[in-house]
Amino acid sequence: MQPLLEGRGLVKHFGQVQALRGADFTVFPAEVVALIGDNGAGKSTLTKVLAGTEQPDEGEIRFEGRPVTLERPTVAQDLGIETVYQDLALAPDLDGAANLFLGRELLRRGLAGRLGALDKAEMRRRAIEAFARLGVELQDIDAPIGTLSGGQRQSVAIARAVAWADKVVFMDEPTAALGVLQRGRVLDVIRRVRDNGIAIVLISHNMPEVLSVADRVEVLRLGRRVATLTTTDTTVENLVGAMTGALDNAETTP
Ligand SMILES: Nc1ncnc2c1ncn2[C@@H]1O[C@H](COP(=O)(O)OP(=O)(O)OP(=O)(O)O)[C@@H](O)[C@H]1O
Ligand SMILES: [Mg+2]
Repeated sequence: MQPLLEGRGLVKHFGQVQALRGADFTVFPAEVVALIGDNGAGKSTLTKVLAGTEQPDEGEIRFEGRPVTLERPTVAQDLGIETVYQDLALAPDLDGAANLFLGRELLRRGLAGRLGALDKAEMRRRAIEAFARLGVELQDIDAPIGTLSGGQRQSVAIARAVAWADKVVFMDEPTAALGVLQRGRVLDVIRRVRDNGIAIVLISHNMPEVLSVADRVEVLRLGRRVATLTTTDTTVENLVGAMTGALDNAETTP
């Protein structure tokens, strides 16, 4: 199958630090691929490079087989690539619908066809639809996001990315701060997104979670991809071994 999004030989320096040292990464259509690696391995940097937030110093990015230059996040967004960053970037005082449309608000046609006020009713209708599609249950759709639980907020952040992404959503540690039940709900949302045909890149330090939700795993160590694994034939021990280098005979990518 042709990869949807591919990074090849990506290099990224921050001053003296080499965050990426020739990293490769592959995303196939409609899969959950986990990106794992120790702290500082370069996971967040790789995500930012593939979402147009950071520019690589060297290397190539291909989208649907064609080389692309993602010079700005909006260029990636136009290709259908969205990111859920760990700090979420939601507006706590606004409700779910307003957050979904943050920065992309719908306007009503006013007098003489001029764009007028915000089309709140239409945004609310579409938000309810978007939440329902992902199984996100909010008791009060009009409640400010700041009053929701961490898991609900995370789900709104994911729904927001998914509402605009039609190809890939990067999620940088979306469950790190969540309790067991909330984590389960967010993982369900991730599965639903995949079932809607969108690929998900999940960064996580939680190996049982990775095994439960991901189809494939790519392992980054010291800024390079050191292994790609299929979740059905691997174990937590294998994943940890690949991350630390203890298992360098794991199915290593050429
Ligand atoms: N904006 C930056 N300026 C300077 N150094 C940076 C910057 N971003 C990342 N780095 C460095 O690049 C390396 C890789 O960082 P990165 O955040 O990509 O790792 P990570 O795999 O996401 O780690 P973690 O699991 O802790 O989130 C680290 O040594 C980090 O200090
Ligand atoms: Mg990180």
